[in-house]
Amino acid sequence: MENSPVSRHHSVALTIKERYLLTKEGSSKQTFHVILDLTQNPLTFQPGDSIAIYPQNDPLLIDHLINAMRGRGNEMITDPRSGKNLSLREFLTHKANLARLTSSFLKLFYAYEPSHDKKNRLGHLLEPSNRPLLIQYLSSHDPLDLFREYQETTVPLQELCSQFGPILPRFYSVASSPSVYKEEAHLTVALFSFTHQGEQRYGVGSHFLCSLAIPRETSFLSYVQPATHFHLPADDATPIILVGPGTGIAPYRAFLQERIARRAPGKNWLFFGERNRAFDYLYEEEIEGWKKKGQLKLDLAFSRDQQEKIYVQHKMLEHAKELFHWLESGAIFYVCGDAHHMAKDVDHALHTLVKQEAGLNELGAKAYVKALRASKRYLADVY
Ligand SMILES: Cc1cc2nc3c(=O)[nH]c(=O)nc-3n(C[C@H](O)[C@H](O)[C@H](O)COP(=O)(O)OP(=O)(O)OC[C@H]3O[C@@H](n4cnc5c(N)ncnc54)[C@H](O)[C@@H]3O)c2cc1C
Ligand SMILES: NC(=O)c1ccc[n+]([C@@H]2O[C@H](COP(=O)([O-])OP(=O)(O)OC[C@H]3O[C@@H](n4cnc5c(N)ncnc54)[C@H](OP(=O)(O)O)[C@@H]3O)[C@@H](O)[C@H]2O)c1
Repeated sequence: MENSPVSRHHSVALTIKERYLLTKEGSSKQTFHVILDLTQNPLTFQPGDSIAIYPQNDPLLIDHLINAMRGRGNEMITDPRSGKNLSLREFLTHKANLARLTSSFLKLFYAYEPSHDKKNRLGHLLEPSNRPLLIQYLSSHDPLDLFREYQETTVPLQELCSQFGPILPRFYSVASSPSVYKEEAHLTVALFSFTHQGEQRYGVGSHFLCSLAIPRETSFLSYVQPATHFHLPADDATPIILVGPGTGIAPYRAFLQERIARRAPGKNWLFFGERNRAFDYLYEEEIEGWKKKGQLKLDLAFSRDQQEKIYVQHKMLEHAKELFHWLESGAIFYVCGDAHHMAKDVDHALHTLVKQEAGLNELGAKAYVKALRASKRYLADVY
């Protein structure tokens, strides 16, 4: 198994064994526990690694696209990247990024547009001096919008399909330890939803895993994306501090299952946060069980249970003295989840508590945190 051929260059087909909602009825979001079946195609991974999934596009969206392209779905298309022939429906399901509109689509419609007015409209957008207009159009429309707007244009299907970018894999942290769940890999997947031109849409990968893929039936390609450093310490006595709101909990469930299975003597401290305790406390029973048995020190931040926001970094600052003491005793500090705001704010809180507890100035705290990073004791897996 050490030399498993499964990699970015060699994916394997998997199915979902089981899937259920982790968030409870009444929650403002939907996060699912997805169990992948590894019995047919074992994957080699360790806690901290992610699984890459090649999602399939929504059949409903494909029906709309085929309609707007004035196709039937069974026309044969050559995939521009692999050179393989497949039906239009298969191509749109497995190969095409349907979310991204590029100017090359507009150029193609411009070339084939029979109506003078519509051709002018496209020409106007494509003029170099109108670049800001073009950027605005491309970011607020997708290929389906364009195909609907220019439905009378008879662009050959092959030329149209050649403009689609490839569908890219989505990554999900493994949320289970392979020592505990031997023929499974668990994922914690938050369903993305948004409104596009007044229509409800979903993120491609999360929608596929959370609702489109039928458990024990739909197969999809997958491979392990190893983490570079985001792993447990080799020395089981090393204390670990885990900061992960939302889906950031995923790799920590794997870490904690693994440490507990190994009877690692090192202390574990988890900072978890979500919206409401009543609906969004992911893996509540398991986490509370670890806490009860003294296997875990736990701090929780439910942001929407009170008027003012309480986040994981507020809990870190509340326990600044003890957290700094753990760092001084050699603990590894991990952060996982949202990269846009959370990881930056957690980093800021870490600097603040180091400054305060070590009696350092700004530069001194920066150097302290930099040294933590350099010695691989401050590890981030953020997205
Ligand atoms: C190493 C790593 C580990 C990860 N681990 C996890 C994990 O454990 N759990 C987890 O849930 N996620 C995880 N992610 C994130 C995950 O890979 C996906 O990015 C996430 O599920 C969203 O992908 P999607 O395909 O559902 O959304 P996409 O289809 O890729 O959409 C992404 C974004 O674009 C917006 N968008 C797309 N099209 C439009 C449009 N037409 N109009 C307006 N907005 C639009 C969406 O709102 C969203 O913000 C991880 C990422 C990495 C890199
Ligand atoms: N579009 C969608 O449908 C959708 C759904 C889920 C997630 N997402 C996105 O997916 C990513 C990860 O989602 P997730 O489910 O892991 O978590 P998340 O929904 O982003 O949030 C988890 C918890 O973190 C809190 N939080 C927000 N900003 C924070 C900050 N600056 N510092 C610390 N905590 C903060 C949230 O509080 P508050 O929310 O109360 O501020 C919530 O309690 C994020 O980028 C998120 O925006 C999008």
